[in-house]
Amino acid sequence: MNEPTLMDKVVSLCKRRGIIFPGSEIYGGLANTWDYGPIGVELKNNIKSAWWKYFVHEREDIVGLDAAILMNPKVWEASGHVAGFSDPLTDCKECKHRLRADKMVEEYREASGDEELPKNWAGEKTPADDLMYYIKSKHLTCPKCGSGEFTDIRKFNLMFKTHQGVIEDDSSVVYLRPETAQGIFVDFKNVIDSLHLRLPFGIAQIGKAFRNEISPGNFTFRTREFEQMEIEYFLPESMWQEKYEEFKTASWNFFKNIGIKEENLRWRQHLDDELSHYSKMTFDIEYKFPWGWGELEGFAYRTDFDLASHTKFSGQDMSYTDPITKEKYTPHCIEPSFGADRTVLTALLDSYTEEEVKGETRVVLKLDKTIAPVKIAILPLMKKDELVEQSRSIFNDLKKHFMVQYDETQSIGKRYRRQDEIGTPYCVTIDPETIEDKAVTVRDRDTMEQERIKIENLVEYFKEKYSR
Ligand code: GAP
Repeated sequence: MNEPTLMDKVVSLCKRRGIIFPGSEIYGGLANTWDYGPIGVELKNNIKSAWWKYFVHEREDIVGLDAAILMNPKVWEASGHVAGFSDPLTDCKECKHRLRADKMVEEYREASGDEELPKNWAGEKTPADDLMYYIKSKHLTCPKCGSGEFTDIRKFNLMFKTHQGVIEDDSSVVYLRPETAQGIFVDFKNVIDSLHLRLPFGIAQIGKAFRNEISPGNFTFRTREFEQMEIEYFLPESMWQEKYEEFKTASWNFFKNIGIKEENLRWRQHLDDELSHYSKMTFDIEYKFPWGWGELEGFAYRTDFDLASHTKFSGQDMSYTDPITKEKYTPHCIEPSFGADRTVLTALLDSYTEEEVKGETRVVLKLDKTIAPVKIAILPLMKKDELVEQSRSIFNDLKKHFMVQYDETQSIGKRYRRQDEIGTPYCVTIDPETIEDKAVTVRDRDTMEQERIKIENLVEYFKEKYSR
């Protein structure tokens, strides 16, 4: 049997320890849906809070928003998603396998070294006839069955469509938002008018987005329902390069601050043919996943595309007048856009560690303390009344300040192992001596060193540990 890969190990750990479960499992699941369990939801919330603190609370020039997922469908006409947010699909006539035509071209070029491109090549935006001509002339075949017969290429829009209200006709069509960004653009005027902000400033939002992805996979890396953490930063055109550089540094530092190893991160600039319809320049922060480099954050310069387009489609003037200079213009926008689920997956993969301890393998998630799901575990050495009572009292004191878990089941060795596996930075053990000396043993997750601390000093001791 093959050795389990890092990904296999992380997926299994997630299930075993209540971090991430397959969705709808008792009904046989629903492909590529995942549920965050009791430990996973803490981890994800900590990542979202760290992001919000860093980009919203610690800055004066970014405010928050929580817009509705369902929006007037005209929003998606204005944003270009109805016309342009689609992939070119073709089916193998033999085995019915569905393929993305542009990906077939890319995979063929990579495998063969043939540098020739289809006429009018523009990635997924390449005209269908040019893609099909290339596929036929290069004799590309189906990776599943080897057939070279394909159906005509058709555009497949990635937006989930549904109906609002009881009547299911064209007039009731609504979409599940494919990005959180549009809620921000649509509320731009409301935010300015209510808070009297002066440019440059940004609006941040964390929320769910939905895309009917053709090939989801790699655990939570690519799913059809996911969470984004996005900022639209509005500015005069003359300022975009300066602010772009500032946010590049801030984005990098965010990942560094939550403990992601810098050697596993890189910037990659989009080639012209990859740019989204709204972007003039995009850089991604990528992580070195077990299957190769993959996008964690997309950072686009969206120009004035969105506000200008909403002015046109809504008939509302989305321009801005500077209160001091009185200059009137449509603001430009830079957009750092992060994936919350991908950041969780990155934190798990990046922190997963196996160590040999006394001839046994110790599995530890060496998560940064700020994002660890449980900050302190309270573990009475034995289930004796006086130890349990003392442990409960410590738990009640600490829980007011930290996310604390109380655990009196199984042996102390097993309990340490469980806490190591969910990345708990500190375990507090209450033993018979505690009753005499009013002190406990604090064990450090990474060094496994133990320290004796007086109960009366515990809250301060941990406040100091978590002071960053
Ligand atoms: N508003 C810009 C925008 O949506 P994007 O590059 O398409 O840009 C931003 O998405 C981030 O959202 C990505 O860097 C990724 O982290 C996350 N993301 C996008 N599609 C995803 C999917 N299908 N599953 C999980 N995360 C996804």
